Amino acid sequence: MKCFLGLPLLLLLLDCNGGSGRYMVIPIRETNGEVTLTIEKGGETLYVADIRLAGEGEEADYCVPLDLEHFGASKRDVHFSGIDAAQAWKLISFSDAPPEVPAEKYRPVYHHTPPYGWMNDANGLFYKDGVYHLYYQYNPFACVWGNMHWGHSASTDMVHWEHQPVALYRDAYGHIFSGSSVVDIDNTAGFGAGAIVSFYTSYNTEREYIQTQCLAYSLDDGMTFTKYEGNPVLVPFDGIKDFRDPKVFWYEQESKWIMIVSADKEMRFYSSKNLREWEYMSAWGEGYGVQPRQFECPDFFQLTTAEGETKWVMIVNVNPGCYFGGSATQYFVGEFDGREFTCDSPKETVKWLDWGKDHYATVCFSNTGDRVIAVPWMSNWQYGTIVPTRYFRSANAIPRQLGLFKDGGEYYVSAYPVAELSKLEKESRTLSGVSTTRLFDTTDGAYELDLDLTVPAAGRSGFRLTNAAGDVVDLYFDAALQRFVFDRTKSGIVDFGERSTTHEIENHGRRKTYSMDYVNDFALATWAPMAVKGAHRMKILYDLTSLEVFIDGGRVAMTNLVFPNEPYDRLEAYSDKGGFTVDRLTITRLGL
Ligand code: FRU
Repeated sequence: MKCFLGLPLLLLLLDCNGGSGRYMVIPIRETNGEVTLTIEKGGETLYVADIRLAGEGEEADYCVPLDLEHFGASKRDVHFSGIDAAQAWKLISFSDAPPEVPAEKYRPVYHHTPPYGWMNDANGLFYKDGVYHLYYQYNPFACVWGNMHWGHSASTDMVHWEHQPVALYRDAYGHIFSGSSVVDIDNTAGFGAGAIVSFYTSYNTEREYIQTQCLAYSLDDGMTFTKYEGNPVLVPFDGIKDFRDPKVFWYEQESKWIMIVSADKEMRFYSSKNLREWEYMSAWGEGYGVQPRQFECPDFFQLTTAEGETKWVMIVNVNPGCYFGGSATQYFVGEFDGREFTCDSPKETVKWLDWGKDHYATVCFSNTGDRVIAVPWMSNWQYGTIVPTRYFRSANAIPRQLGLFKDGGEYYVSAYPVAELSKLEKESRTLSGVSTTRLFDTTDGAYELDLDLTVPAAGRSGFRLTNAAGDVVDLYFDAALQRFVFDRTKSGIVDFGERSTTHEIENHGRRKTYSMDYVNDFALATWAPMAVKGAHRMKILYDLTSLEVFIDGGRVAMTNLVFPNEPYDRLEAYSDKGGFTVDRLTITRLGL
């Protein structure tokens, strides 16, 4: 059995047979059906994983490691179902080191990505003692959804991330779904002062309650966790199936913890004094925003305007529901009395945190003082599992600091890259009065553009980002429709055409087959309503496969994936009625 790793030919072939070592090296073929692997010791099931094992004589897409030492286990503790064990062992080898992950064309330069495998939502974000911790929904066995673990990365500045060992492994009780973490400074839970207490949803279709809220704590600042023996700490009082993504925060005014759980089409509020026992308080959200949609991944925090007005903001990620198809992040502004949230706006009011198509499951760090910092998953459930990357799927958008502003009597939330982004800045040059310009002679596709624009009150004006392959991203203001538009229909690879015209997608174990229309949902334009006229400022972050656009300090944010045949290296300004000027363009190379 040979294991294809994608390196230059001689290095490509890793002998997957025999050997010894701490890591099982498992060849994966993504299109194969799943077999189940368990690790059992002393009558207890320590680990469960569904793997798409490459069969005898089949070429593997890649190999993935399983660290037996983590479980204090050896080969005899590993069992299989769905395949004869002797047959499975013929396919698997052992090694002292995990297999190398090959470089690939579409790996972003400065955005956080998993080392290999599949990633979705950011989870359990917290800051402590100078370090930001980012956990994430992780499948270490394939580049599609499944086997949910919490992967882990840490950073001192939110822009340089270091991969850490997996923090929470799927277990016999279930998949580890999304959730949040708090720093229990006063030891309210009794695990220890300063313990990190993380909440996640355990998911298992074979239980009475399919989704329950569980707790794990860490006494070494989030590096290793112990799952609480009293799990689950919360089950739904009405047996509702979709009950997940607990967000926990400290409510200073009443010295209590609050947990918000998304419960199908509403958010439920619970309170606790000790993080272990939870009492139901209220529900909010039925009928609010785009309808009727699945609520997921709540967040809830206070923001203050420049004028000093403070409001509560409820983040509601919805799937589907995005204006442009698939998943997106809504928010609601209002008041909170310690028990109930009241939204200021009528139910029909819809506010989006980002107007692109690749911004989802956005939640914020805990323990960051006055700064509210959100981390989006930069993809969309419509096509996240089929984007043209090979050894990993999905990145996080650049962390964004959220702000509150008032416009026409309504409160809105702005989102702007964290100031720490400047730590990535390399050479920079500033041009004025730009019409068409080569941005770089050679580029690895990682840069930032800062523009001061004068936009006419009529016609369509903007600029195209292009490359020698003829790929074009069109970014323009439409004065007639009062919109900013991001058109990626000709941005490069848009049909992910190497695969068949129907795709089987799994979402939480529910399989669906989508037709070609579904895939074409990538090739479109997204737009944001805005008052188009006069001076506008724009920041664009480009990183090979993503463009994040922030207009007027983040009052409009728009995040979209792109897969150009080569990086965009040219900017062409245009205007059909004239009067459009790029007054200043600062081009800055970004790198780690
Ligand atoms: C959102 C979500 C969550 C769930 C997780 C599972 O993208 O569906 O509601 O916890 O992904 O991976």
